[in-house]
Amino acid sequence: MDSLLPTRLRPMVTADLEQVLGWRNHPEIRRYMYTQHPISLEEHSRWFEKKSADPDYHLLVFEVDATPLGFINIHKIAPGGIADWGFYAAPDAPKGTGRQLGQAALHYAFVTCGLHKLCGQALAFNASSIKFHRNLGFTQEGILRQQHFDGQHYHDVLCFGLLASEWPSNS
Ligand SMILES: CC(C)(COP(=O)(O)OP(=O)(O)OC[C@H]1O[C@@H](n2cnc3c(N)ncnc32)[C@H](O)[C@@H]1OP(=O)(O)O)[C@@H](O)C(=O)NCCC(=O)NCCS
Repeated sequence: MDSLLPTRLRPMVTADLEQVLGWRNHPEIRRYMYTQHPISLEEHSRWFEKKSADPDYHLLVFEVDATPLGFINIHKIAPGGIADWGFYAAPDAPKGTGRQLGQAALHYAFVTCGLHKLCGQALAFNASSIKFHRNLGFTQEGILRQQHFDGQHYHDVLCFGLLASEWPSNS
């Protein structure tokens, strides 16, 4: 991907619902989520209505050259600027989109929101996400053993954390 193209993060709006749902329901995204059933537009709309009214949630769309190419959810989970995040790039996004999305999200988290710490969790078989967190400078802080049941098997969950003081020098 041409890294010279302008990127931005903006709040998700109602007009994004169908596109973001299309990404979320794509098999290559859904398989890495905690809930893996295909989500209906109604369920997705209810989720959006609830979360977008909650000041602890930041639902964001990542754009490259004004084209939406990813979704990020930053959720404050504790006092003192501690939040977790979830994200996915559009399944057909060009190579390099994930990294750009990650860098934009960290800037948003630590500069725009002034967070102290961002936490991520990845299923142990999600090699892309694990590599992605490490490449962005996250430290692996623990493993929740067999913490996720997919209906047939248990999976470990890897926990990652990045402090504002560690960013951006080690990303
Ligand atoms: C997690 C996610 C955003 C990570 O993005 P990513 O795959 O690292 O995205 P990138 O496009 O930056 O990198 C893809 C590959 O292209 C490579 N790449 C990066 N820039 C490139 C470029 N300009 N040219 C060619 N290749 C490039 C990367 O090194 C990477 O290679 P790798 O797979 O060997 O590491 C993405 O995989 C995703 O949306 N996954 C599904 C949802 C998900 O798992 N979400 C997280 C839940 S915890």
